Amino acid sequence: MGDPTHPNLQDIGRQRQKEIYLRGAAGITPRIPTDPAHLEAAANAALTPEAAAYIDGRAGAGSTACANRAAFDKWAIVPRVLNDVSRREMSVSLFGSTLPSPLLLAPVGVLDLAHRDADLAVARAAASVGVPMIFSNQASTPMEKCAAAMGSSPRWFQLYWSRDEALVESFVRRAEACGCSAIVLTLDTTMLGWRTGDLDGGYLPFLRGMGIAQYTSDPVFRAAIREPQPATQVAAPRPPFTPSLLATALAQKSNWPGPWPSKLFSSEPRRAVERFMATYSRPDLQWSDLPRLRAMTKLPILLKGVLHPDDARRAVDAGMDGVIVSNHGGRQIDGEIGALDALPAVAKAAGSLAVLFDSGVRTGADIFKALALGARAVCIGRPYVHGLAIAGEDGVADVIRNLLAELDLTMGLAGCRSVAELTRERLQPA
Ligand code: FNR
Repeated sequence: MGDPTHPNLQDIGRQRQKEIYLRGAAGITPRIPTDPAHLEAAANAALTPEAAAYIDGRAGAGSTACANRAAFDKWAIVPRVLNDVSRREMSVSLFGSTLPSPLLLAPVGVLDLAHRDADLAVARAAASVGVPMIFSNQASTPMEKCAAAMGSSPRWFQLYWSRDEALVESFVRRAEACGCSAIVLTLDTTMLGWRTGDLDGGYLPFLRGMGIAQYTSDPVFRAAIREPQPATQVAAPRPPFTPSLLATALAQKSNWPGPWPSKLFSSEPRRAVERFMATYSRPDLQWSDLPRLRAMTKLPILLKGVLHPDDARRAVDAGMDGVIVSNHGGRQIDGEIGALDALPAVAKAAGSLAVLFDSGVRTGADIFKALALGARAVCIGRPYVHGLAIAGEDGVADVIRNLLAELDLTMGLAGCRSVAELTRERLQPA
């Protein structure tokens, strides 16, 4: 699954600098800013206000997203000199395979909000640099299509455990069949967080049939929408009939995979959204459910959203293979622990589990710090979505390359020749 040293990644730091500076000599500046704040600003300028709000999507007053960033500032890298860093090795080993770098793309749903090529653009970009993509349960493109675009490049599947167990099993089978090499079970989103930006815009993309492509391409789900639907978990008054409501109904039809003339008169697009809304939320999920998933697949399973060391210990007992220390980028709980603040204790408690990390990673130096604090690999979220919004596949590839270039240079300049050398001793409290 991937060469130890992906040809594109050898000396990527200096290569990328040279490429950018030489183009600069010809008067061409990068379309994808290397500064993360500028990257976000350029993406927001390319996005509709609803899309920008959904992607930014912080819970409450946004303090967790701030805590994620502040947690990185609490640590400082302490370089060592005269260590012959002319060759840097970024490959890491994970679940018996070698990845060319310690970077993965976090699962991000509803990518068609950012760009019409959505998940396909991300899949192609990820494959071009050998970085695994974690397909989202809420993708805008069925996993099989993305897998086909990736050749033999590594991909994983992220699962939301819905109320429909047959659907959960179907998703897992499809993930296995399309070559996913791990299942990521996200546990911090059994209900949607209180996302003030989306609430104030009254905007939920799923109601428009966006972000449910894994469902509408699934035979179990498609059979289920023809049956009587389960009672809704949460009652709400019907909205008034307005032109916007009509536009929402049309959007549902437009996002339904069938051909146009027939889907205009079909009730399936609406029933699909209703079925999704009635079943996706699963607040009663508990530890005793995990054995069923464990029995369903031989693939490594990682629990995403673990922030407490006791939960990491329970994951070991439950036969899991890894955890992703994450607070969903601050989208779920306001006033939550910064993800990096939680990492050292979880890494210590995790024993044999592979510990991955996401939330707030914006630079190569951030990746360095997370690896030094115990992460085996690091996932990025919003930055690649920003690249996608600005320039589609090329934008995603550039964001990945920029992050890896900065990591490569940071490693070398700090005196490290391999990821194994990124240990706690490389950092000091700032
Ligand atoms: C997410 N994330 C997410 N996680 C997941 O497990 N399944 C999903 O479908 C989604 N969808 C999603 C949509 C959007 C727009 C964002 C920004 C995030 C969370 C994601 O995997 C990751 O945990 C965070 O993005 C990490 O934080 P940063 O890097 O964005 O700060």
